[in-house]
Amino acid sequence: MEELRSFRPGAIWPDSSGAHINAHGGGMLYQDGRYYWFGEKRAARRSEGINVYSSGDLYNWQYEGVALEPVEGDADHEIAWGCVMERPKVVFNEGTGKYVMWFHLELRGKGYSAARAAVAVSDTATGPYKFVKSFRPNGNMSRDMTLFKDEGGAVYHVFASRDNFDMRICQLSDDYLSPTDRDVVIHSDHREAPALFKHGGKYYLITSACSGWRANEARADTADSIWGPWSSEGNPARGPEAETTFGSQSTHVLPVAGREGAFIFMADRWKGHDLIDSRYIWLPVQFDDGGAFVEWVEEWDLSWFDK
Ligand code: GAL
Repeated sequence: MEELRSFRPGAIWPDSSGAHINAHGGGMLYQDGRYYWFGEKRAARRSEGINVYSSGDLYNWQYEGVALEPVEGDADHEIAWGCVMERPKVVFNEGTGKYVMWFHLELRGKGYSAARAAVAVSDTATGPYKFVKSFRPNGNMSRDMTLFKDEGGAVYHVFASRDNFDMRICQLSDDYLSPTDRDVVIHSDHREAPALFKHGGKYYLITSACSGWRANEARADTADSIWGPWSSEGNPARGPEAETTFGSQSTHVLPVAGREGAFIFMADRWKGHDLIDSRYIWLPVQFDDGGAFVEWVEEWDLSWFDK
């Protein structure tokens, strides 16, 4: 494989073996100079667990294998084959030394009705992770989700609840394995696909509307405290195809390591009938008086942040 030196949003993204990266609805962990990209392993439709890739430069990705695989031979297991695992996010716990993965879990044969969050742990970044449990956090439905680790180490679970009408933020316990009662609804506007980041002391939350695999218009909300009040800044996408977020849906906003103020908007351009072939839309986040925004860039690299 030839070395990649740029991002090409929407193109096939070959890993170091030449195969299109299979890590949809992804999230990113940065640890000791390496990025770990966790995402949904998909067949054409089927959910096949959680994949993990690693990279030192964000362009070239090495496949590290299946971080969490569905369980074979026990149809009643919460993660039995046939279950759906979506939007995995991993954080490292300094106190316990464990890597903790949260993801959206739907039980085998139950469509999207279970609406659970699930937790798995590992002693190494790439796993394999060990399934711990699944539940509705504090009794609340939990579908599209992300994790956000704040300065100081507090981790928050951000998730679409009450049939996606509420967006909730719940602080996790010190070991990151459970929800706490610090749990609030931040808006009730029928949004999903949350991606949260912090810049200049301000929190930014990007979400999508709810239209399944079809792309729609994103929205950014900002707040000075994670507990709110949150206020809408409207659609962060600008320019042609801004009304469909360039044909994609948010999944994560990645702070580029060692580059103050450099963030990458990560989104999925889903192919609902051929999920494995869904594409990745990575774009630089820009800031001006109107807040944070993203514009389409055909091809770019990290030197973009030097200007
Ligand atoms: C979307 C959601 C995806 C997936 C899909 C299933 O609304 O953002 O993560 O759950 O629905 O149709």
